Amino acid sequence: MAKVRLENINRVYNQAVAIADISFEIPDGEFWVLVGPSGCGKSTILRTIAGLESATSGNIYIGDRLVNNVPARQRDVAMVFQNYALYPHMTVAQNIGFGLKMRQVDSNIIKQRVLEVARSLSLEHLLERTPKQLSGGQQQRVALGRAIARQAEVFLLDEPLSNLDAQLRDDTRAELKQLHHNLRNTTVYVTHDQVEAMTLADKIVVLEKGRIQQIGDPQTIYSQPANRMVATFIGNPPMNILPAKFLGKQFDIWGQMIPVGDNMGKMADLNIPVGQVVELGIRPEYMTLAENGDEEGDKPLLLVEVKVVEPLGRETLIRAGIPGSMTILNIQTSANIRPQPGDRLHLLLDLQHLFVFDGETGKRLFPLV
Ligand SMILES: Nc1ncnc2c1ncn2[C@@H]1O[C@H](COP(=O)(O)OP(=O)(O)O)[C@@H](O)[C@H]1O
Ligand SMILES: [Mg+2]
Repeated sequence: MAKVRLENINRVYNQAVAIADISFEIPDGEFWVLVGPSGCGKSTILRTIAGLESATSGNIYIGDRLVNNVPARQRDVAMVFQNYALYPHMTVAQNIGFGLKMRQVDSNIIKQRVLEVARSLSLEHLLERTPKQLSGGQQQRVALGRAIARQAEVFLLDEPLSNLDAQLRDDTRAELKQLHHNLRNTTVYVTHDQVEAMTLADKIVVLEKGRIQQIGDPQTIYSQPANRMVATFIGNPPMNILPAKFLGKQFDIWGQMIPVGDNMGKMADLNIPVGQVVELGIRPEYMTLAENGDEEGDKPLLLVEVKVVEPLGRETLIRAGIPGSMTILNIQTSANIRPQPGDRLHLLLDLQHLFVFDGETGKRLFPLV
């Protein structure tokens, strides 16, 4: 196994920047997830590590070896693609053993290794079938098995679950996690699905427009997003974003005044000019329906108008607008709460969990650390 290090990797296609200034080091044995919207450069990074693309500039190390000029097949990486590309005329066993056969490994060793891998993926009863006799999930496991059998230094997985239906995707995701727990191979996993990123990763690399937005463990990414993009991309339903004007002791949100409250002391250090337009961020779980009596005193209440009510069984999701604006909020409430579209509600904001983002750059201004 090996660590993987990228140093200032850039890739330009016809003068368009696909990835810019990508640097990180994955310690030996860790599972890292590259996540971001479609087109943000995830596959380009992965293919560059694999040696299927060359970087316009920058260095890539696998272990301590600089591999910039090492061809793909000598990099000792195993890659699994979204469309898993099994050999249709070969059996499952032959598919799993293919990489070993190419390396002229002894056929008895291949046989034994294929069996071991097939067992670890619950495929041993399918070894004589061909891919078209398998379900999508089984095919996906065979593709993984082919990578595992190779015992490569590094695993590269590009959206490996996106062709599976929802239930199977969840199951295979859990299997992958268990597999990594057992094998401990250095893995780079690409997905646009933030749930996969959160559930699988030791570290998440959030990308947008070819640039790294933040690198961190899942909990840090969730609770201390570096900017608005990370804040709204990770988490479902997403963090609510409210345009607001900073008035020193309160925020003006479309004419509604929200006190800065206990955050005052810490906020003073920020030197945000009074009158500055910012964006407030607050996750759905930190907005609750106000109760009788909340109106008294200086509590942070926000009046909203219900647009859509989505009962989900365990909870009810409410989409509501701030009157006089286009701003829509997601609110999670208990299942027994069923307001009607058009109802007006007061939300109580938990300001302990308030973020302030720069209105222009999206950078997190508050909290500072
Ligand atoms: N072979 C290519 N030729 C030209 N542009 C490309 C090529 N491959 C990728 N790109 C561009 O690079 C950017 C990143 O693409 P990609 O890495 O595939 O994104 P992702 O995997 O995150 O969806 C996109 O704008 C894409 O159009
Ligand atoms: Mg891609």
